[in-house]
Amino acid sequence: MHDLNLFLFCKILYRLSCAAIQSKLYIVVNLGEVEYCDFNTDSSCPSDDGYHYNTNVVFDRNGAIVSRYRKFHLYFEPQFNYPTLEYSTFNTDFGVEFGLFTCFDIIFAHPAVELVVNLGIHNFAFPTAWIDELPFLTAIQSQALWAQSNQVNLLASGYHQPDRGSMGSGIYSGDEGALNYVFDASSGTKLVTSLVPITSYHTTSYFKRFQQPTQSASQDPPLEPYHMWLREDLTNCSYKPIDPYLNHEFLCHENSFCCNIEYSLNSTSYSGHLKLLVFDGRRTVAAKRDWFEWQVCAILHCLNDTLESCTESSPESSNHPKFNFIKIQAQPLKVEYGDEETSAAQPGMSLLDTKFRLIPQSQFKILRWRDSTTGNMNAEAETTSTSEISHFQVKTVALIQKVYGGRL
Ligand SMILES: *[C@@H]1O[C@H](CO)[C@@H](O)[C@H](O)[C@H]1NC(C)=O
Ligand SMILES: *[C@@H]1O[C@H](CO)[C@@H](O)[C@H](O)[C@H]1NC(C)=O
Ligand SMILES: *[C@@H]1O[C@H](CO)[C@@H](O)[C@H](O)[C@H]1NC(C)=O
Repeated sequence: MHDLNLFLFCKILYRLSCAAIQSKLYIVVNLGEVEYCDFNTDSSCPSDDGYHYNTNVVFDRNGAIVSRYRKFHLYFEPQFNYPTLEYSTFNTDFGVEFGLFTCFDIIFAHPAVELVVNLGIHNFAFPTAWIDELPFLTAIQSQALWAQSNQVNLLASGYHQPDRGSMGSGIYSGDEGALNYVFDASSGTKLVTSLVPITSYHTTSYFKRFQQPTQSASQDPPLEPYHMWLREDLTNCSYKPIDPYLNHEFLCHENSFCCNIEYSLNSTSYSGHLKLLVFDGRRTVAAKRDWFEWQVCAILHCLNDTLESCTESSPESSNHPKFNFIKIQAQPLKVEYGDEETSAAQPGMSLLDTKFRLIPQSQFKILRWRDSTTGNMNAEAETTSTSEISHFQVKTVALIQKVYGGRL
C-alpha cells in the first residue's frame, strides 16, 4: 500500500520540480505530506501508520527542494497532525531570504512574528486558503495588516473559491500596503505580480515606490457571483453611533482602552448608520480552540442600528458614507513583541471601501509613539490628502493592534 502512495506523491513532486526548471522560477507550493511511521518504534504513531501534515514545499530554479514548512496552526483540519514548531526559510540567488508560514498561522506569534523579530526575516511567501470574515478578517485585510504591522514584504497566494468564502491574493510591502492584489468574486483564478523593493525596514526608513497599486476604488466590477462571508460576533465590543453632523467622537472599552476619532463627513448625502467600535481583549477562533488578544478602534458602516448589521455585506443601493477627512487615535496599546526600535508587531491600519477592497495605504499616514510621561504606546492614523480622499466611501477603517495568541 505504501509504495503506491509514495509513487503518487513523488509524481506530484516530480512534476512541480520540472515546472520550476522549465519556468526558471522558485516555486512555493502547499501540499499534503505523509511521513510514515511504525507503532513498534514510535508509540505516538497514528493508527493509519503516518503523520499527515499541511506542508509548504519550496523548489529552486533547478527544481531542487530547498525548504519545507509544516503548518503549525491548523484550522479545522482533522485530516492533519500538529507538527513540532519549525522556523523555515530559504535563500534565493537574488540575495533575499524568505520565511514561510501558511494561512491561519498569520494570526499567531509562532512561527510568523518570531521569524521577523528573532530571525530578522523581512520577506515572506504565504500560501493560504483563507475564509473571509467581516469586518476585520478578510484575506486581503489580514495580509495587508500583517505586512504593515511587521514592516515586511508579504507574497500571499490564496485559493479562489468565493462560494466557499475563499478569495484574495496580494503582494504587500510594509506601510506601503498592497503593491498589487486581487479580491473579486468574478475574476476567476488570477496571477498577481509586482516588482517588490528589497529593503530592511528595521534599519532604514528609506523606501522607493516601484509601482502604483493596480486596483482602484471605482473601476472594479461589483462583487459577483456569490461570495460567502463569515461574520464576526461583535457582542462584547463597545460601540456608539457616529453622528454625521458632529466632527469627533470618543469611546473607551472597559475604561482602559480608548479611541478618539475626528472626521468630516458629507452629512447632506448620508442618512445611514456609522458606528465607532472599540475593543480590547481576547477573541477565540476556530471553535474556541485558539485565541488571540487584540485592540481595535474602528469606524464601521452598518446597515441599521444593530451591531450585527455591521458584519453584513451592504448592497450596492445602500447609502454609503462619504468622508473628506478621518483621523483615528488609539491608546494605550499593548505591545508584546518589539517596540519603536524594532518596529515589529506594531499597530496597523485596516482600510476597506464599501465593496471590501483595500483603500490604498497611501491615502493614510500612520504614526506610532511612546508617551514620554506615561510610557504608553499610542497610535494614530489620518488621511493624507483631502483632494485624493474626498468622497471616499468606507466600510471599515480600523486601527488594530494584535497581541498574538496561541492554542487553548
Ligand atoms: C463575550 O464575553 C463572554 C464573557 O467573558 C464570553 O464568555 C464570550 O465567549 C464572549 N463572546 C465572544 C464572541 O467573544
Ligand atoms: C455632498 O453630497 C451632495 C449629494 O451627493 C453633493 O451634491 C455635494 O456637493 C456634497 N458636498 C460636498 C461638500 O462634497
Ligand atoms: C438590521 O439588519 C439586519 C441585517 O444585517 C437584519 O437581519 C435585521 O432584521 C435588521 N434589524 C432592524 C431592526 O432593522
